[in-house]
Amino acid sequence: MDCHNQVYSMFSTEFFSSEINRWLSEIEYPSKPEGLYEPIAYMLSGGGKRLRPTLMCAVSESLGHSFDFVRQQAIAIEMFHNFTLLHDDVMDNADIRHGKPTVHRKWNIPTAILSGDTMLTMASGFMSDCGSDIREDVVDIFNKTAIEIYEGQQYDMNFESRQDVTADEYLDMIRLKTAVLLGCSCKIGAIAAKASPMIQDLFYQYGVKLGMAFQLRDDYLDTFGDPELFGKQIGGDILNDKKTFLSLQAWEKNFNAMLGATSLSESSEKIMKVRDLYVALGLDKMCLDLISDYTKDAIRQLQSVGLSASDMEFFENVALSAVKRKS
Ligand code: IPE
Ligand code: IPE
Ligand code: MG
Ligand code: MG
Ligand code: MG
Repeated sequence: MDCHNQVYSMFSTEFFSSEINRWLSEIEYPSKPEGLYEPIAYMLSGGGKRLRPTLMCAVSESLGHSFDFVRQQAIAIEMFHNFTLLHDDVMDNADIRHGKPTVHRKWNIPTAILSGDTMLTMASGFMSDCGSDIREDVVDIFNKTAIEIYEGQQYDMNFESRQDVTADEYLDMIRLKTAVLLGCSCKIGAIAAKASPMIQDLFYQYGVKLGMAFQLRDDYLDTFGDPELFGKQIGGDILNDKKTFLSLQAWEKNFNAMLGATSLSESSEKIMKVRDLYVALGLDKMCLDLISDYTKDAIRQLQSVGLSASDMEFFENVALSAVKRKS
């Protein structure tokens, strides 16, 4: 994430992500069967941004509850997120993640399924490893969010073969598949800090709005990103006929040109022609404007929380980085 040197009281996003990386590296996996555990360690050492556990730690800390106390839940949310990525790469037929071969390409699809299942169950174990006074609330929001993500992923796949997806349907799909997990991460930080339901909800809303901006930026980078920095194949969404803000607008604004571009059978030509059409229609700029709107909305949610100026600045900077991130 493009948010270096953001000083948050004594902490920064870099500090949180290095702590989270250390926690993840300290997980001890059984040695056998290695075909099950090796892909998990491979996935988790891949160099993700650690955004979700960073949010959880920062929310907890900003409410006066040391980030160390959410260690197990932070590990859980990152393990769970990486489980969704592992299965997502199978569903999206993706070859590259974090600049390296995806698990199903390096091993095979059955391995990706089973290592993913194991990550999900391990994540549930870490998540419920907390005080009995907060366990029910933590597990409830985690389980609710997980089901929403599966719903979002199903819509994402259904939309590939539909030509009548509306903007509202698309926005609801990305809320489910991506945004609620950022909301959930923030909310668990607030639950752990014993914040009031109102404060928990404001942080949840901050995370959800930020998540909307984050997925819109992901869709933007899938077409316009630098593959070296993004770590994923550029044009995957175009090849899979994914419905994104860009593609929905293009179908609406110039149906015939989009039909011509998406009917091309040669992959690199199809990606190039669709991308050129997006630019010709000014959709790249429109997408960035929408990202910016969601970011501002995210920041607005926190205005009545009563955070210190430096804490507010931290959460503002995390949100703003969603507008300009390249990885
Ligand atoms: C990728 O999430 C999936 C989306 C929701 C866009 P990230 O971009 O946070 O992936 P990592 O964890 O940094 O690899
Ligand atoms: C990711 O959506 C959502 C989840 C993994 C739940 P994408 O399919 O756009 O994510 P990337 O681009 O593969 O990371
Ligand atoms: Mg994908
Ligand atoms: Mg996907
Ligand atoms: Mg994507």
